[in-house]
Amino acid sequence: MPIYTNIEDLRRHYARRTPKMFYDYAESGSWTEQTFRENTSDFQHIHLKQRVAVDMSGRSTRSSMMGEDVAMPVALAPVGLTGMQAADGEIKAARAAEKFGVPFTLSTMSICSIEDIAEHTTQPFWFQVYTLKDDDFMRRLFERAKAANCSTIVVTVDLQVLGQRHKDLKNGLSAPPKLTAKSIANMATKIPWGLEMLKTKRRSFGNIVGHAKGVTDPSSLLAWTAEAFDVSLDWKRIAQFKAWWDGKLIIKGIMTPEDARCAVEIGADAIIVSNHGGRQLDGAMSSIRMLTSIMDEVGGEIEVHLDSGIRSGQDVLKALALGAKGTYIGRAFTYGLGAAGEEGVTRALQIIHKELDTTMALCGETDVSRLGPHNLYVPNGFADPTVKL
Ligand code: FNR
Repeated sequence: MPIYTNIEDLRRHYARRTPKMFYDYAESGSWTEQTFRENTSDFQHIHLKQRVAVDMSGRSTRSSMMGEDVAMPVALAPVGLTGMQAADGEIKAARAAEKFGVPFTLSTMSICSIEDIAEHTTQPFWFQVYTLKDDDFMRRLFERAKAANCSTIVVTVDLQVLGQRHKDLKNGLSAPPKLTAKSIANMATKIPWGLEMLKTKRRSFGNIVGHAKGVTDPSSLLAWTAEAFDVSLDWKRIAQFKAWWDGKLIIKGIMTPEDARCAVEIGADAIIVSNHGGRQLDGAMSSIRMLTSIMDEVGGEIEVHLDSGIRSGQDVLKALALGAKGTYIGRAFTYGLGAAGEEGVTRALQIIHKELDTTMALCGETDVSRLGPHNLYVPNGFADPTVKL
């Protein structure tokens, strides 16, 4: 394996190895990509407070998320089509997460199915639910997740309609990829990816195909989303899922204190402050900016987690210091997977762990649970950007 010292190294290698259609799918935001860019750049406005001559021995990044012990509070976010970034990608990522001791979240829109992950792992994993119109399908999805021993359900509430990502339209994104002159020419330059892909049977949406009715073209993500997703989703229906699931439930995609309050009211156990990695509402604030006001509203009542824009252990530390109990990485582990399969995901986790551990030490802290605003310099107006007009 090449020497990867940071997440950006993994991204560059991933870009070379993976067909353009799938690289572009991950490495893009909606419309102008403003929110996609600001998710990462806003972390840089927060500075860290250096402390010296503090005993830094016996450090620990161990913590818990949803009552589960974690080696560090960094879970793998649900990422659709992970099994197109590398053959059997979800199985590889789930195994890497399990060995490392962090939660893995399987997307509804995964290539490997819930049952595939259960078969290839030994610990309970988390399952992310998109809300489809078809109630029978939804009930069965919960039953399948229960049967697969999933410990937590993550209900994503920010994708009733799809934010437009220009490149996906231009590339004709689909799983399996449609064979056009352009896609064949590109895939011909990605031999190791293609050889691995030929060895697996898992090349379509494993949780959907054969389980959902009335899907005319499951290979086309964009057409299928428009057709099958529940545009009328509201808090009443989310409360119904809570009753059906009857277990630990996280609401993903909260960006305001008002919506955080609604999540508490329906009995969610946690929320994820997230703008879907800048892939939905372009022009939304970065999630790190919204964390403080959401913490003020519900931080004392439920676990607050955060994703969108995390590319380093320093970013994780900043989110934890602002109050998040846990964080997630989406693209950061996808880069690792595309670059080097299961080992690449492990490498991404190792990189982030080392950065978190060392940065914590240089801030004079020995335990992630003791991080707080005292470790940061946050510019005025950063955390509460609301301008009264
Ligand atoms: C996602 N995300 C996502 N979220 C979800 O709830 N279900 C899904 O199927 C997907 N699919 C998906 C695909 C790709 C390629 C990306 C990059 C993201 C969003 C994901 O869970 C998470 O919110 C973001 O990835 C977080 O931002 P970063 O870490 O990628 O910056």
